[in-house]
Formats: sequence, structure tokens, C-alpha cells
Amino acid sequence: MTSDCSELQAKILELKKKRNALILAHNYQTIDIQQIADFTGDSLQLARKSAEATGYDLIIFSGVRFMAEMATVLSNGVPVYIPDPSALCPLAAYVDADKIRAKKEEYPGLPVIVYVNTTAETKSETDYICTSGSAVEIVKALGVESVLFGPDSNLADHVRMHTDVEIIDIEPRGSCYVHNQFDLAQLQLLKEEYPDSISIVHPECPKEVQEAADMVGSTGMMVKTVAKAPSNTIFLIATEMGLIHQLQKSFPDKKIIPVWEGAICRQMKKHTLEKILHVLEDLPEENRVTVPIAQLPHITEVLEQMNKVKGQGPATPVVQES
Ligand code: 13P
Ligand code: SF4
Repeated sequence: MTSDCSELQAKILELKKKRNALILAHNYQTIDIQQIADFTGDSLQLARKSAEATGYDLIIFSGVRFMAEMATVLSNGVPVYIPDPSALCPLAAYVDADKIRAKKEEYPGLPVIVYVNTTAETKSETDYICTSGSAVEIVKALGVESVLFGPDSNLADHVRMHTDVEIIDIEPRGSCYVHNQFDLAQLQLLKEEYPDSISIVHPECPKEVQEAADMVGSTGMMVKTVAKAPSNTIFLIATEMGLIHQLQKSFPDKKIIPVWEGAICRQMKKHTLEKILHVLEDLPEENRVTVPIAQLPHITEVLEQMNKVKGQGPATPVVQES
């Protein structure tokens, strides 16, 4: 927290201390929220932080609902609250438990891997869970010829590009409405304008955008890569604007250029400082995140398994050496 802390932020920090609360924020949250968070990170990093939250009386999770559900499963009983319960990730709606059951009947015996951007109910039908930073590693580790994969078809392409495993889409239309709009022409124009730049794109971007980039990775990997780069490095980044703002603020000695300034996830932006304060003051029941008891043992098992995988480190040239 910096010295230009607003009155509202100061109130939150005071109450956070009194309540013994841990505030976790995804990289796409607005800067004012990132400033009062104890930790900001990608979905895998946040899942791991939730698992280490023993010692806190509650967690406030500022991210989309599936992430808060994951925190609830992993937090060893520490209650989790979400500032705006209607913050749902639209990508998660592409694959539900019924769709997985139907696909399993069509392809009996094949392992099912779902992206973490799914509801708890969907996760209860899967064999494995991956994040954007661990999908390739998890698929490779299975040592099988084919897998059922969903819901993100662009992440599926990312895995296809880096493994010999046959990836069968559970729902070929599944995509993130924000990342799927990144366009190859936008990236190519910027690469021409900044020939010495390094381009990093999220694996939820379309295949042709991934192929044209220098690196592909999770938001956490983007932060690590920028942090390690020498001063004055120019980065072209294709992901949601919350991360761009974080990078510009944290690394003023580097030039961070968004590939598309319109990349804003409306769901992630539903959370505000006012809503966080309201939760801290009243602990409203409707903001408490729950996961159906019947689904808990299986989801806990697959999430714990996911947390054991190393995931992406910084600066891995995952697409091409250029
Ligand atoms: P990360 O795991 O890279 O943070 O991605 C989560 C997400 O929802 C991207 O749109
Ligand atoms: Fe979901 Fe896309 Fe928003 Fe990420 S950016 S939370 S995948 S809608």
C-alpha cells in the first residue's frame, strides 16, 4: 500500500486487520483493489495462497466466482467471501456436468481435463484440472494418446501446439469473449512499429495470435517475465487491461504496450472498494461462497493434484524462438 492511500482504502485496511481477513485479488482487478490486497496473482497462484490461509478468520476473494469457489475448497475451512456474487466467468458456461457426461459416453475411457474456468459442478465430473500456466505440463504428464479437454478451445490449441497428445474439444465453440477478440493484424502492426519488442499473449487468445507471439503464458508468467527483463525493454501484451495497468505501475522503467486497449472483462470489474468494505463490515450471507458438500471430496482431490504441478516459470519461449 502506498502513501497515496484513499480514505476508503484506509478504512478497508483497518477493518481487514480487525477482522483478521486475507484479501486476494486476481491480476485483472483494478489498481485500487490490487493496492489493498495482501496478494495479487493468476488463478493458480491464488489457489495456492488460499490453501495457505490457515491463521486467517476469513478470505475476501476479488476475482470471478469459479476462483472464489476454488479458494473455498482449498482454504481448510476458512470462510471465503466474494465482493460481488454475480461476477461469473462466461467461459465457464460453455461446459456443464451434463456435457462432460455425454462426451465421456461418446469416448469411453479417455481422461477428462477441464480448465479451472469452470463451475464446481463441472469440476465434479472431471479427472484433472489445469490452469493456463499448467495445461501443457498436466497433459504431458498423463502419458496418454488422447484426452477430452474444455471449455476453452484456444487453450486447447495451445496444448496441441506443445504436445503430441490428441486433444478432443468437449465444446469446440468455448472461448473467452475478451481474449478471443485479439486479432492477428493488431499484433502484427505493433510488431512492425516496435521491431525490438517482446510480445506475450495469453493462451486464451486465438491460435494465429499465439503463433505470431514471442511467448504465450498465464498472467502470472507475464508478471514474472516483465519483472526479470532489463530496463527499457518494450513489451507488447495481449491480455485484460487490469494486468496492463499493474505492469505499467510496477515497472515504470519498461514500456508496456497493450495489444488491444478494449480488453476489459466486465465480470472481473464488478468488484469495487465499496463492495469490499461492505463485506468486511457486514459479512453478508449472500456474499459467502459455498460449494455443495456432495461435490467437495472429488473437487478437493483434483484441485490438490493441480496445485502439486509446478506450472509456468518466467520467460519460457513457449511458442517459437524468434
Ligand atoms: P490466469 O490464470 O492466467 O490468471 O487466467 C485466468 C483468466 O481468467 C484469464 O482470462
Ligand atoms: Fe472469464 Fe475471460 Fe473474464 Fe478470464 S477474462 S474471467 S476467461 S471472461
